[in-house]
Amino acid sequence: MTDLIEADYRTGQIKLHGPEGFEGMRKAGRLAAECLDMLTPHVVPGVITDELDRLAREFILDHGAIPACLFYRGYSKTVCISPNHVVCHGIPGERALREGDIANIDVTVIVDGWHGDTSRMWALGEVAAKSTRLIDVTYEAMARGLAAARPGATTGDIGHAIQTYVESQRCSVVRDFCGHGLGRVFHDEPNILHFGQKGSGQVLKPGMFFTIEPMVNLGKPSVKVLADGWTAVTRDKSLSAQCEHSIGITEDGCEVFTASPKGIFRP
Ligand code: MF3
Ligand code: CO
Ligand code: CO
Repeated sequence: MTDLIEADYRTGQIKLHGPEGFEGMRKAGRLAAECLDMLTPHVVPGVITDELDRLAREFILDHGAIPACLFYRGYSKTVCISPNHVVCHGIPGERALREGDIANIDVTVIVDGWHGDTSRMWALGEVAAKSTRLIDVTYEAMARGLAAARPGATTGDIGHAIQTYVESQRCSVVRDFCGHGLGRVFHDEPNILHFGQKGSGQVLKPGMFFTIEPMVNLGKPSVKVLADGWTAVTRDKSLSAQCEHSIGITEDGCEVFTASPKGIFRP
């Protein structure tokens, strides 16, 4: 590859990474996934969200890594925990997760300078059938996004695959947040919209690293951010779900860096 770029700042161009980058992202992605695996037995009715945040922070530090969200743009926690109608960026605190809730936990770690960013959904005890269905639709939406991520396809092809599937299931795709390039930079080019037209956007090439992280609502797509400056919720209070993988484009498709070593990505 002639246009290899490994800068640790935003260059305004989409970076193309080589084997070293893939090796770095495998390690970071694996630790992020292991962190969520570690949390899983603790995600039970009654757990205080701050306790989950503490467990994640200690796990990451114990592994010699850095919690990327801590102090990122003034954020003060290690993970985001987004229950029920919270779309994303829910801040852990004194709140307990309760029987019947669904919740997303999103973690980003930095290992040797590389970012691993992933999130999953949990169902707390018995949940309503509509909650399970929303989670299923969200995972399938991401799977379809991953299937569209290969050289020669475009970022718009990913968004199109996700949007058409989600809307066929009478759910909606959040427009206000998107996936993002990552690597030695947390949020980099390109933006990965989870909706769009086939053939639009950037052409994908081997060595591009980015996240796919669709947020799917049972109701309308509109969101608002609460006064804390972070917590995004659905305007109509409908349930929202999200899942996220960090991936790299390969010669014939994509490599998922954040697969669960325990095989428990889906609840
Ligand atoms: N992990 C989130 C993402 O997927 C970013 C969270 S930024 C924070 O991009 F500051 F809210 F933690
Ligand atoms: Co992300
Ligand atoms: Co994330």
